[in-house]
Amino acid sequence: MATGHEKVEKNVSLLIIFTVIVVAIGGLVEILPLFFQKSTTEAVSGLKPYPALQLEGRDIYIRESCMVCHSQMIRPFRAETERYGHYSVAGEFVYDRPFQWGSKRTGPDLHRVGGRYSNEWHRAHLINPRDVVPESIMPGYPWLERNKLDPTLIRKKMRVLLTLGHPYTEEDIKNAPAELEGKTEMDALIAYLQGLGTTIKARR
Ligand code: HEC
Repeated sequence: MATGHEKVEKNVSLLIIFTVIVVAIGGLVEILPLFFQKSTTEAVSGLKPYPALQLEGRDIYIRESCMVCHSQMIRPFRAETERYGHYSVAGEFVYDRPFQWGSKRTGPDLHRVGGRYSNEWHRAHLINPRDVVPESIMPGYPWLERNKLDPTLIRKKMRVLLTLGHPYTEEDIKNAPAELEGKTEMDALIAYLQGLGTTIKARR
């Protein structure tokens, strides 16, 4: 007489069905609590939605595919925190849609690069990385310096984010186009980089 266990092991259909049930339960137990834990759904204290200029800079970061070579996710290991500063926590990314976490690191992680270099360093580096880091393999982005920002869509972008719960005030939205006036894409990208990871002060 075959035991129940043997029957399940020898019947492929039953084995598949039971495997799926077990994996599904395991998955739910791991994933469901994350939706209700405050530490993964609430902003860390002091976190603000991106100001207009940084928001434009973030869109340029995405357009230029910087995430292809740079992650924004410092893992909680000593080798990482010694190099980059405090590890990344979920509550820092509440106003990031979509996240720029990534795992591909051709270049260094950028999550705490804010405040690490001067604006002038970033400008020189983004125009031609070899001017400041001779061995760099990062491409240059000289057109960012020439392209002026287009302020026509910023209010719409902020309104969409407002409906998703980013706490912009009417004042923020009203003043947004003026903040972009006369600025280049380079200014916006640098503003974005300088704000990265600064809510939790980097530990050096
Ligand atoms: C082909 C891969 C590649 C791409 C694409 C790329 N980078 Fe880099 N980046 C690197 C490498 C490699 C370094 C390290 C050498 C250096 O500093 O130039 C680096 C360094 C940096 C640094 C300095 C980080 C530090 O802590 O020293 C910043 C800031 C940076 N990149 C921003 C950007 C931005 C913004 C973009 C998109 C406009 C971008 N990178 C696109 C490869 C890349």
